[in-house]
Amino acid sequence: MEKETLICFLLIIAAGECIEISPSQSVYTVAEGSHIQVNCSSKYSISWTKGTGPPRTRPVATVNSSGDNVSTLTLRYLEQSDSGTYRCTDQEGERVVELQVLSVRPQEVEFEPFKDAELGCGLEDTSKNYTYIWTKGYLPVADIPVQGNQAYVDHGNGLLEIKHPLRSFAGLYVCVAQFEDNGKQRSIDIDVKYYATPQVLPFESKDVVLGETLTIECRVLGYPKPRVTWYKDGEPIVGGDEARYKLQTANTYNGEQMENARLQRDSVDLDDGGKYACVAKTDKWLTFNSTQEILVRVNEATVGTSTDSSNTRTSSEDEGDSDNNSTTTTDTESSSSNALAIGLGVAGGVCVFMAAVGAGVYFKERRPGQLYASPDNAPPASVPPDNGPQAAGSAVPPQN
Ligand SMILES: *[C@@H]1O[C@H](CO)[C@@H](O)[C@H](O)[C@H]1NC(C)=O
Ligand SMILES: *[C@@H]1O[C@H](CO)[C@@H](O)[C@H](O)[C@H]1NC(C)=O
Ligand SMILES: *[C@@H]1O[C@H](CO)[C@@H](O)[C@H](O)[C@H]1NC(C)=O
Ligand SMILES: *[C@@H]1O[C@H](CO)[C@@H](O)[C@H](O)[C@H]1NC(C)=O
Ligand SMILES: *[C@@H]1O[C@H](CO)[C@@H](O)[C@H](O)[C@H]1NC(C)=O
Ligand SMILES: *[C@@H]1O[C@H](CO)[C@@H](O)[C@H](O)[C@H]1NC(C)=O
Ligand SMILES: *[C@@H]1O[C@H](CO)[C@@H](O)[C@H](O)[C@H]1NC(C)=O
Repeated sequence: MEKETLICFLLIIAAGECIEISPSQSVYTVAEGSHIQVNCSSKYSISWTKGTGPPRTRPVATVNSSGDNVSTLTLRYLEQSDSGTYRCTDQEGERVVELQVLSVRPQEVEFEPFKDAELGCGLEDTSKNYTYIWTKGYLPVADIPVQGNQAYVDHGNGLLEIKHPLRSFAGLYVCVAQFEDNGKQRSIDIDVKYYATPQVLPFESKDVVLGETLTIECRVLGYPKPRVTWYKDGEPIVGGDEARYKLQTANTYNGEQMENARLQRDSVDLDDGGKYACVAKTDKWLTFNSTQEILVRVNEATVGTSTDSSNTRTSSEDEGDSDNNSTTTTDTESSSSNALAIGLGVAGGVCVFMAAVGAGVYFKERRPGQLYASPDNAPPASVPPDNGPQAAGSAVPPQN
């Protein structure tokens, strides 16, 4: 892969008056793996050729609304061998498209807690003076908010360093390599994947009373985007309009939409008490999952309103985004045990929080916070924090 191959197609605009291409762009410089589409239209019958034969993919021929013959050439997942000169010809002339497919070393980086990351553009072409811009979700990295000692350091040579990243930094980055071509500014987009194993963030505690609505939202990090499933007392929950539980989409994947992330049960009854688990998995790591549990207790009594201590935790999402080192996360752990949370080692050390939902007012009034905070139930010392080493370390199988 170190050998760079560079093939160029030259556009020659021939004299044909009625033949046209769209886009009118005649020179393409693109990265391996990208796609292009070019329409050629004429009053006459037209055909695409590459060299002396047809192109790799057969162009699609249609007739325009204005009655023109149109031939659409679509080249997907471009390879260097697709480089060359493409000609669209009719009886009067031709249009020529020059295609240059640049060799790119595929870049894939995996998130490791407490370790700086380096994303490389992987463009091996040195024939041009490239300038590089890094984006994530169309946002230049310079515009992505960071906290504390987190930082994006753009080395300017196609290398982006991420200092003190969190799992939420994972995702699809695009290296935009800009260059000048005959006085015109052009650019090549190169995808760079920054992977992270799934992580379900700890639940916030909540109360529910018989007859009320129970809503639990599962918040998830990781890239590629994980899938979420639910379990109650170890049994899979099947959602649906007619089902006992509704599973809905919510903005809980790094603030983006996540299918099935919200579990809702209207008019809770006693059978709804139990242990609910949200499990996040992705096809990239088939045997790995991240799990969080929450203990729901259904309270028959409606005595008083509960303003208990179980909602005192800070948002786990904030934790996930502000844990810049282990000191911070230790605090998080102790605050979560204050919040009636129990940590258990699950799925390679991801902690499980059980929170009292709708626990009897009786209990809360007498000794709030103590019900689940006994030493036996306290989070084990080895429980990793969000983004902690074990969260992605020991339990992560080797890639592939
Ligand atoms: C080519 O033509 C098709 C239909 O005529 C249209 O949908 C498509 O957007 C066109 N593509 C370009 C690159 O002009
Ligand atoms: C499209 O090409 C065919 C020949 O392949 C020709 O017979 C036809 O007239 C052309 N269509 C138009 C609108 O000119
Ligand atoms: C289709 O028809 C329009 C309208 O006449 C024309 O301008 C265009 O070049 C034709 N071809 C394509 C690919 O749109
Ligand atoms: C790149 O830019 C430098 C100075 O800006 C120039 O000397 C050099 O010739 C350029 N190289 C290419 C390949 O354009
Ligand atoms: C961690 O982040 C907080 C703010 O988010 C900051 O005050 C603190 O100094 C950071 N710690 C380190 C070691 O950078
Ligand atoms: C965490 O932050 C504190 C100060 O904010 C710093 O002294 C300590 O070295 C940091 N620990 C790690 C693992 O970065
Ligand atoms: C999650 O992973 C743990 C540990 O490998 C395993 O015991 C459990 O069955 C998995 N759960 C699901 C739903 O895949």
